[in-house]
This record gives sequence, structure tokens and C-alpha cells, in this order.
Amino acid sequence: MTQRKKVAVLISGRGSNMLSLISAAQDPAFPAEIALVVSNNPDAGGLERAAGFGIETAVLDHRNYKGNREAFERDMDALLRSRGIELIALAGFMRLLTPFLVNAWKNRMINIHPALLPSFKGLHTHERALETGVRLHGATVHFVSAEMDDGPIIIQGAVPVLDSDTPESLGARVLTVEHKIYPRALALVASGAASVSGHKVVLSREDADLAGQTLLAP
Ligand code: GAR
Repeated sequence: MTQRKKVAVLISGRGSNMLSLISAAQDPAFPAEIALVVSNNPDAGGLERAAGFGIETAVLDHRNYKGNREAFERDMDALLRSRGIELIALAGFMRLLTPFLVNAWKNRMINIHPALLPSFKGLHTHERALETGVRLHGATVHFVSAEMDDGPIIIQGAVPVLDSDTPESLGARVLTVEHKIYPRALALVASGAASVSGHKVVLSREDADLAGQTLLAP
């Protein structure tokens, strides 16, 4: 088997998406290994959950950098390189990134966003989907580019929006689909099946049918 790619997952909170990646990577056939989990928040619940799987964890508390985002990112970059990390998966990592880290990890950093991009970039996506009255909502895994919640799209998962939905019920439905698409997207990137061409992701032939479709979840 070819070498599994060493992945760092960056989190800020409970880490349910991180857990979906860790679970998928338990399978030796999965093309990535979760080698490190880093949080900017020392109280992130995901840190303990990762440690429970024997995964190395680290905290880089952004508050120690007093607004110097690039100094924070330089230390993050040094930490990731010191562990031989090859890919970064942002999983509820709630820090805006500067061009420094984005460029250093170009085409090697992916993110999950709780909306069908390019709709509803930013925060409070479920509230805004309900206010707008869209009938489909969902989640997107994409490569990270300099613009927030932008960058080539790898996979999207869609869910229906019900008249009875609250932001919480809709968010829970979206989260279920997030947990399905993130491991699939990471596998596509780690195996080399998904690559960037211009502003789009191209998939190798055998994966095109599997991942090119939008996942529809109940
Ligand atoms: C997820 O819904 C993720 O899509 C979202 O934060 C949540 C983290 O939950 N990310 C963003 O909003 C990024 N802008 P988790 O910690 O349980 O994975």
C-alpha cells in the first residue's frame, strides 16, 4: 500500500467533524492518517476526544499573540512541519487565516463549511438559510484559498429545509451530512484522486461518479 498521508486536524470546539475523520482513518485502507490535532482554544472538547484515540494534541492559544495573526500562523506552520504533516483539515477552526498560512499550504489545506457554497459564507449559516427561504441547504468541503469560505469545491452534501425547521434542527440535519462528506473528501485529496485545476477540482475518472454528485440526505 502506498504511504498514508499525515494529516493535522485543526479545531476550535467539540470536534464532531474531527471525530468523523478519525473514525474513517481507523480503517487501514483509508489513505490518510490523523497524526495531530491542534486547537487555538485550550477548552475545545475535541482535544480530549482525540487524545482518547491516542492521537497527539497541541494547543496554540491565539490570545497569546495579541492580534498578531501572522506570528500565530508562523508557530502553527512550524509545529505542523515539525510533525511531518502533509495535509491540513480545518474542522470547525474558527480563526480567519492570513495569506501566509494559506499560501504555505496551497492545495494542501481543506475546510468544511456548513452551507452550500457560494451561498451563505461566514457565520450563522442555518439562520440565514431559514430567513432566505431556500429549500435546499447543506455543507461543502473545499480547498482553502485567500478569500474566506472560497476555494475549489471538492464535495457538497444537500439536505431539505422543512417548514418546521429551527436553526438547531436544520443544523443537526446538516451536521449529519457533514460527517458523511468530510471523510470522503479527505480520502479523495489524500489519495490524489482530487486535484485543483484553475478554480475547480478535477477528479480522476474512477472517482468522478462517486464524488461528483451532490449527496442528498434525508
Ligand atoms: C461544523 O458545523 C463546521 O461545518 C462549522 O463549525 C462546526 C464545527 O462543529 N465550521 C464553520 O462554521 C467554519 N466557518 P464540530 O466541532 O462538531 O466539527
